[in-house]
Amino acid sequence: MQRTLSIADTSKIYFFVVYLFCYHGFLASEGSLSYLPLIMGKLIDEQTTYFGYRKVGETEKASLVKEVFDNVSNKYDLMNDVMSMGVHRLWKNVMIDWLAPKPGMTLLDVGGGTGDIPFRVLARLPKAHPGSITVVDINSAMLRRGREHAINRGIINSIKWINGDAENLPVNDMSVDAYTIAFCIRNVTHIARALSEARRVLKPGGRFLCLEFSHVTAPILSKIYDAYSFKVLPMLGAQIAGDRTAYQYLAESIRQFPDQSRFTTMILDSGLGNVKVRNLSGGIAALHSAWRI
Ligand SMILES: C[S@@+](CC[C@H](N)C(=O)[O-])C[C@H]1O[C@@H](n2cnc3c(N)ncnc32)[C@H](O)[C@@H]1O
Repeated sequence: MQRTLSIADTSKIYFFVVYLFCYHGFLASEGSLSYLPLIMGKLIDEQTTYFGYRKVGETEKASLVKEVFDNVSNKYDLMNDVMSMGVHRLWKNVMIDWLAPKPGMTLLDVGGGTGDIPFRVLARLPKAHPGSITVVDINSAMLRRGREHAINRGIINSIKWINGDAENLPVNDMSVDAYTIAFCIRNVTHIARALSEARRVLKPGGRFLCLEFSHVTAPILSKIYDAYSFKVLPMLGAQIAGDRTAYQYLAESIRQFPDQSRFTTMILDSGLGNVKVRNLSGGIAALHSAWRI
């Protein structure tokens, strides 16, 4: 993933390059000139990222993602059921099976949105020892929906709902037994930062579990899935959620997200270990499990 440079960093490097060129006769060597577009291109590149297929400024991406979830929060759960024909429920159940929640555990669900993961975890824990569950999400509209669902289920105190960023978690070092993230990490601007935050907050021996759309492994399924994603999904988005663009973004962001093995490498690079991957529905989604060793 791309490393971020702040505007201040970029300016410093820019002036350093200009200084080298002007005062140290670097310019005198013709060969050195050929590096200029490369250096400047790199600087410019390092401040951009992708919002779906659109190249955008890194600072712009978070607000575009926020807009997506602001616009669809009311219809988010209905859309999940319609577009996946209910299959997202099975994937989430497989995630919780693999997590195997333990009584009294401390769980952090990042990008928890409307609460599907914490509700499932809570349902598997004994009422007397539910442990501590915290949801962190950057979008207050999604959190509001989550809280409403919790109240409707009679869940009042068992889940904490916190507005925060996966890249800068408002959570103490080594404080959680399990970190879950479902269909969120694809949306963050710097995936590597979110992964390093996951490692930071996990206790030694703590579990990382990520459910995300991934890359379809069977070529035939891939063709059908492409047609469905790019033709049917945006149409459903327009009809049901009144937002075609949000679901066009969904299809594009899935294609931009690293495949199973690249994502495994990113997890290992963050310092987490013992990564295991399970493909779901032929790789339409995948679960990545890892541990803070
Ligand atoms: C597709 S929803 C998934 C919601 C829920 N986990 C589920 O599986 O149904 C993605 C969620 O990630 C949140 N999100 C996006 N970027 C985030 C970030 N940088 N930090 C925290 N949450 C983020 C969005 O606000 C949204 O609620």
